[in-house]
Order: sequence, then structure tokens, then C-alpha cells
Amino acid sequence: MALRFRRIVVLTGAGISAESGLGTFRDKDGLWTKYDLNEVATPEGFARNPRLVHEFYSARRKNLLDAKPNAAHAALAALEEAAGGNLLLVTQNVDTLHEQAGSRNIRHMHGELLRTRCGPCGHSAADEDELTLERQCTACGRAGGLRPDVVWFGEMPFHMDEIADALGDCDLFLSIGTSGTVYPAAGFVLAAAHAGAHTVELNLEPSEGHSTFAERRYGPASAIVPDYVNSLLSGGRHGGTAIAD
Ligand code: OAD
Repeated sequence: MALRFRRIVVLTGAGISAESGLGTFRDKDGLWTKYDLNEVATPEGFARNPRLVHEFYSARRKNLLDAKPNAAHAALAALEEAAGGNLLLVTQNVDTLHEQAGSRNIRHMHGELLRTRCGPCGHSAADEDELTLERQCTACGRAGGLRPDVVWFGEMPFHMDEIADALGDCDLFLSIGTSGTVYPAAGFVLAAAHAGAHTVELNLEPSEGHSTFAERRYGPASAIVPDYVNSLLSGGRHGGTAIAD
């Protein structure tokens, strides 16, 4: 293994799963062009119309159950294996495609679509079924309190202390398939740069914060992520073409 980096943090967003058939949020035809995020991705929206929120996440569950990881997910699993425990994969995605591809050291900062949490008692469990108001919590028995175990706007993302520690101690930070519009994830590049890490953006197009990255490559994730990982595994800091800065 010829990795030049000691500790790697990877951040992924919806773009890495786009070629697996899962929609992104802000692209043309993205989820937030069809749904009002205030209605389906906030605690207030859930309080107003829980049935609509359940329908939205139940449909996303169905899509996810039909999806398969792509070459970008596989490349990150290979990088984790090569890094021998020194890679933390932080994803904003609520899908399970990283796990299906073989990634293990993963933190879902925006929660997981295939888990259901009981609002009243807090119990969380793996669940692939349709969400309804009639279903009861398997722990406390209450009906009507179940919600997808995801983080909505206005709620605190998960694992933030651990992620901050990892960013403060990394020497390579990769940001993949994210528009860089949602905080705190959008600020991770600055934390990593502050720690002295080399920062790399891999995305279809320049993100909001693209100019803060030391290195940038643009194209579909299924092509540019395997290319970049191959360049790292073959001992290079850079590989392929189209290096900016
Ligand atoms: P966005 O939809 O905001 O951004 C997706 C990014 O992926 C865009 O920059 C696209 O250019 C890029 N992209 C699209 N297809 C791609 C491909 N094939 N290869 C590489 N890149 C591609 O999604 P996120 O940045 O993940 O939060 O959004 C962040 C958060 O906002 C989400 O976790 C979600 C959302 O609202 C919550 O719901 C709390």
C-alpha cells in the first residue's frame, strides 16, 4: 500500500448516488424542485402533515431498495481497506449504498432512511417498511409517533463531535458529490484546511465553495472517484487529468 496520507476524511453527498438512480436535491429534476423541503424535511412540516412526510420517505425507501452502489462507492470501499482503519467516511446521504459497496467506517450525519425512530421514546430500529401513522413503536407500543430516523432542517446532525475531531486530525479531505450549500457539512473543508490537510473536490460541477479546495476535478462520480482513488493507491498525490490549482 503506497498511500501518502496518514488520516483521510471523506465527505459524500447525493451526487455520489445519482448514477445509482437516487435523485439529488438541487439539480434540475432534484427532489427540492418537486417537493417543498419545509413541508417534508422539517419538524414543523411533520407536525403539520405527518401523512405527507411518511409518504415522501416511504417512496424514497422504495427507490433505495431498488438501487445498487456504483463504481464510486466501490472505489471508496477499496480506499478504506487500503487505508487500514485511517479513513472516516462521513456521508450526508441517508441511503445505504456505501455499506452495500463494503465501506465500514461510516457515519451518517443526516441519519438513515432504512431506520425508524419513535419520537416519544427515542427507540430506533432498522426498518424497510412503509411508514404510517397507524404503526406502533416496537419498544413503547405507542402508535402515531414513528418517524424516519433522518435529520431534518432545524435538527442537529449526528456524530458532530467525532467528525470535528477527525477533521482536526486529517491530512487529506475529499468532498464528493455535494453542492456545498448545507451547513455544517459545507464548512468541513475549512476545518480540514485549517488542520493542514490537502483538500480535494470531486463533483459533477464546481460547488458553492469550490474555490476553497486546493484541488478540483469535475465529471461523473463513477468515473472521477475511481480515477482519483487509483491515483492515490498508486502512490501519487494527483492522477489522471484536469487538475485545477
Ligand atoms: P445536492 O442536491 O445539493 O447536490 C448534489 C451535488 O452532486 C451537485 O453539486 C451536483 O452537481 C452533484 N452531482 C450530480 N450528479 C453527479 C454525478 N453523477 N457525479 C458527481 N456529482 C454529481 O445534494 P447534497 O449536497 O448532498 O439534507 O445536499 C446536502 C443536503 O441537502 C442533503 O443531505 C439533504 C439536502 O437537503 C437534508 O435533507 C437534511
